[in-house]
Amino acid sequence: MATNISFHPGSVTGEERKELLGQKGATVWLTGLSASGKSTIACALEQHLLHSKKFTYRLDGDNVRFGLNKDLGFDEKSRNENIRRIGEVSKLFTDAGCITVTAFISPYRADRDLARDLHKQSSLPFIEVFVDAPLEVVEARDPKGLYKKARAGEIKEFTGISAPYEAPSSPEIHIKTDQVSVANAVQIITDYLVANNYILP
Ligand SMILES: Nc1ncnc2c1ncn2[C@@H]1O[C@H](COP(=O)(O)OP(=O)(O)O)[C@@H](O)[C@H]1O
Ligand SMILES: [Mg+2]
Repeated sequence: MATNISFHPGSVTGEERKELLGQKGATVWLTGLSASGKSTIACALEQHLLHSKKFTYRLDGDNVRFGLNKDLGFDEKSRNENIRRIGEVSKLFTDAGCITVTAFISPYRADRDLARDLHKQSSLPFIEVFVDAPLEVVEARDPKGLYKKARAGEIKEFTGISAPYEAPSSPEIHIKTDQVSVANAVQIITDYLVANNYILP
């Protein structure tokens, strides 16, 4: 823990930043089982927003584990730290005025709540999106063959098989990807951003 540090406030207000960028930063936090569709929806959403000239950026689970979080594994403590760091990073992006789209399994409710609290303390929007599909469906999709490996015992602590997934109790948005197309999911999230005045249509 660092001592002898004090927070140096900036000279630009959030309101000023919002006016200049024509949008307010918000974190769109996608959570769900592996293969539920988080990365697919995050990519499509990022592309859609960028093509609509919105400032947006995507933070994706595996990608972040190649760099910032390369020192972390998948045990519970490492997963906690993984999400804590992502929470802090997404908060910074969002404070900069970005529509920050995160795609992490983030299986523990307490971790997501911590990320939410970090945003709340800074009065920054946090939109929890439950990317939901039944285990049978995601296991049948298995785009990376991970469920097969997990069932064979080749991957330990795999969410949904040998590690828990705690579903959100009151997410801002709930998307059932066995019933809703990728394009529709993008539309639902975009509509939410517009309805809450984070972006203009
Ligand atoms: N409605 C849908 N929304 C998102 N993905 C879907 C949908 N229907 C089928 N899929 C497929 O499910 C898989 C989801 O994989 P991915 O996006 O990598 O999941 P995650 O990032 O949650 O692990 C992809 O192969 C995608 O094409
Ligand atoms: Mg993914």
